[in-house]
Amino acid sequence: MAKQSQNFICQACGAAHSKWSGRCDACGAWNTIVEEQPLSSGPAAKSLGTKRGKGMALTDLAREEAPPPRSSSGIDELDRVLGGGLVPSSAVLVGGDPGIGKSTLLLQAAASFARAGTSCIYVSGEEASAQIRMRAQRLGLGDAPVRLATETNLRNILTTLEAEKPDLAIIDSIQTMWADNVDSSPGSVSQVRAAAHELTTFAKRNGIAVILVGHVTKEGQIAGPRVIEHMVDTVLYFEGERGHQFRILRAVKNRFGPADEIGVFEMTGAGLAQVSNPSALFLGDRDEPQAGAAVFAGIEGSRPVLCEFQALVAPTPHSQPRRSTVGWDGGRLAMILAVLEARCAIPFSGLDVYLNVAGGLRVREPAADLAVAAALLSAREDVALPPHSVVFGEISLSGALRPAGQTENRLKEAAKLGFSTAIAPSQSKALAGEDMALRHYPDLASLVGDIFGA
Ligand code: TYD
Ligand code: MG
Repeated sequence: MAKQSQNFICQACGAAHSKWSGRCDACGAWNTIVEEQPLSSGPAAKSLGTKRGKGMALTDLAREEAPPPRSSSGIDELDRVLGGGLVPSSAVLVGGDPGIGKSTLLLQAAASFARAGTSCIYVSGEEASAQIRMRAQRLGLGDAPVRLATETNLRNILTTLEAEKPDLAIIDSIQTMWADNVDSSPGSVSQVRAAAHELTTFAKRNGIAVILVGHVTKEGQIAGPRVIEHMVDTVLYFEGERGHQFRILRAVKNRFGPADEIGVFEMTGAGLAQVSNPSALFLGDRDEPQAGAAVFAGIEGSRPVLCEFQALVAPTPHSQPRRSTVGWDGGRLAMILAVLEARCAIPFSGLDVYLNVAGGLRVREPAADLAVAAALLSAREDVALPPHSVVFGEISLSGALRPAGQTENRLKEAAKLGFSTAIAPSQSKALAGEDMALRHYPDLASLVGDIFGA
């Protein structure tokens, strides 16, 4: 039987299907499947004999010349997320919602790289050169030695790169790029993949680093950046709540550095400004301890970041109480509520629960469990936590508390910001610094008894 062709491609995840359907089985997205022309397959792989494609010893590699050093962008928060600067000939993807500030960040980075001696070309497929020039002037970058190109045809871009031989090419955005040998519309999975593949292989061969911008899309009419994540060395996502001026650049994959590192920026009238002390920013002005608030001593990547969890617990008029969370995983909230109910006999049925991380940070660390529980308990009992206290620790389903990594870093940062008490799992005590009082508990029930007298 002839092989069934799989021409229906999900624009969100890239999965191929043999027929159209309303929902993609692979990722669950609705209305994202579009018919695309397949790429013509190349000749079948043939053996080239024993000489070609020979392996080499790892020790031989060590004798080859050392790789050129990383180049600094001159923006510390960006360098940190890249793992200590841009690796020559590497490919970086910067994803994010439309309007979040990707073009602003990369134009600032381009100018900064160029001023630091990394020759840089900024290729825009979205804006006219006059628009880019206006933006650059507004950002105070009018005189930066960056080269600009407005182009969407891949062939022309490769020709430009070949002629100019920059150290770095920024492509804004990959969804507007279009390869004339691929028979589907710009922004489709085939086009985005082909363009990303061509650009990254060309760049690697020619010693050019590339930064690709990718819009995260909800409608599914254009392919999301996820379909090219595997082709690049480093994947960064630029995130933030629309209403907040804070933006977080997060490394989710990095072949040349730690993942999970974050860079914090503030969107101002004159572009993105670095925030070198994020803890102070996320905590804002706090004076009186309030019921329902718990300060979490967290770690983002390699650095400690303090932030505040805020909870509101109120009787519900509905049969199904609401569980609403911003900045924290909803499933993990449900788990903590269940542990409080089953292990500490504190029910939340009949109560609406709202949980929010102040400042627009998204917390993913399990070590925040205890801060979430403390905020919920404090809101429910209407009792504030001890003044100047921070909370951290993981909660297991049995109700036992597990120590979090990097306790010392968390305590140091908290002490630096004027906190004097840490509420944490028992095993943390060995590491406590002198200037922090540690209130440690083996399980959630003993914490509840001690702090809330319940
Ligand atoms: P932009 O970089 O165009 O977003 P993206 O490339 O991710 O789509 O940013 C657009 C938003 O940023 C826009 O709503 C205006 C705002 N902005 C500022 O607040 N200050 C500035 O200096 C600039 C250039 C943009
Ligand atoms: Mg843009």
